[in-house]
Amino acid sequence: MKNLLVTGGAGFIGSNFARYMLEKYPHYKIVVFDKLTYAGNLDNLRDVASSPRYAFVQGDICSADEVQGAIRAHAIDTIVNFAAETHVDRSILDADAFLRTNVVGTFVLLEAAKQFGLERYHQISTDEVYGWVDKPAHEDDPLIPRSPYAAAKASGDLMVNAYYVTHHVPTTITRASNTVGPYQYPEKVVPLFITNALENEPLPLYGDGKQIRDWLYVTDHCEAVDVVLHQGKVGEVYNVGGDNERHNVEVVKLILDTLDKSPDLVRRVADRSGHDRRYSLGIEKIEQLGWKPRHSFEGALTETIHWYAENKWWWQKIKSGDYREYYERQYGERLRTSEAITV
Ligand code: NAD
Ligand code: DAU
Repeated sequence: MKNLLVTGGAGFIGSNFARYMLEKYPHYKIVVFDKLTYAGNLDNLRDVASSPRYAFVQGDICSADEVQGAIRAHAIDTIVNFAAETHVDRSILDADAFLRTNVVGTFVLLEAAKQFGLERYHQISTDEVYGWVDKPAHEDDPLIPRSPYAAAKASGDLMVNAYYVTHHVPTTITRASNTVGPYQYPEKVVPLFITNALENEPLPLYGDGKQIRDWLYVTDHCEAVDVVLHQGKVGEVYNVGGDNERHNVEVVKLILDTLDKSPDLVRRVADRSGHDRRYSLGIEKIEQLGWKPRHSFEGALTETIHWYAENKWWWQKIKSGDYREYYERQYGERLRTSEAITV
């Protein structure tokens, strides 16, 4: 393994992974392949752009020609697929791009992995494929996705398994929990609430705020993918959790306290349709490979809050563009009919 195609590498986790791998493996070449959708951003990679071991290709994973061209041009031996439509709320507004990228795009990459006889195809997946759970989900549990986003990701996982079984493509899958850290697009709850709080704008909390997510710091997520790439067993799935399950209200409180902002900023707004109450992962399988999360909940959130406070240049640019239109569509009416909530 030495020439990696990191699809979706201009997004949040993919760009952190590209940086992590370039630093850790001085003989690896990292080729980021990304369509640059609204969520893709070359600012995320500007500190690695001058590395002679880094290249960027703008392309769509749904295009076999573009994918195969990049594999040929850069002698790729491994694909790590981060490319996806990733925001649950957007999948409720319109699921079309989710089906194309998360399902058809995954199929196109698997076909390329088969045709070129690649050493490994690694799929980045999510705890959301297990659906709302009342106890930690394990790798062999049934997939019961409940949002269009989660259903598209689960379909991608099924296709990966089919290519392993039928075509013997050497695949692995990681299913990770809610990830936080630098360069996350400010539509996801943590960067949205941090940046709104920094601008003294309301924090729109869905429903009662008692939903549970398991928080994972982005470098822990990257290390887990690295461990599975190098030590994971082909054909297997590995859960990657942060061991940090918290209610959403606890996330809000920590953000407000750290930034010394008033709890009056929090608004209770109409809930997400089909909102999953809890995600939770059993991580014993990946622990057997020697990985465990390094960051506590407070550590992960605090590092993230400080990064956004110190890097306003990065998110203020994003929030002044097309983002405003999305924000009005998603939150305009919700905020006009919101209520105060004590957190
Ligand atoms: P992101 O939205 O920040 O980035 C996605 C990237 O994919 C963007 O750069 C975008 O331009 C690119 N992309 C989208 N469609 C593409 C296409 N058709 N062809 C090529 N590139 C395309 O996403 P993220 O939060 O970094 O998530 C990365 C992966 O991790 C996704 O597969 C997601 O499902 C998974 N995941 C995310 C989390 C999380 O909490 N963020 C947790 C578990 C799993
Ligand atoms: O669990 C892994 C998943 O985590 C990833 O697969 C997804 O790509 C990623 O987007 C994330 O999905 P969630 O739906 O859990 O993340 P989000 O940040 O959208 O929401 C987290 C929680 O916060 C959820 O319970 C909904 C709530 N929320 C979210 C937003 C955007 C709010 O209360 N208000 C908001 O404005």
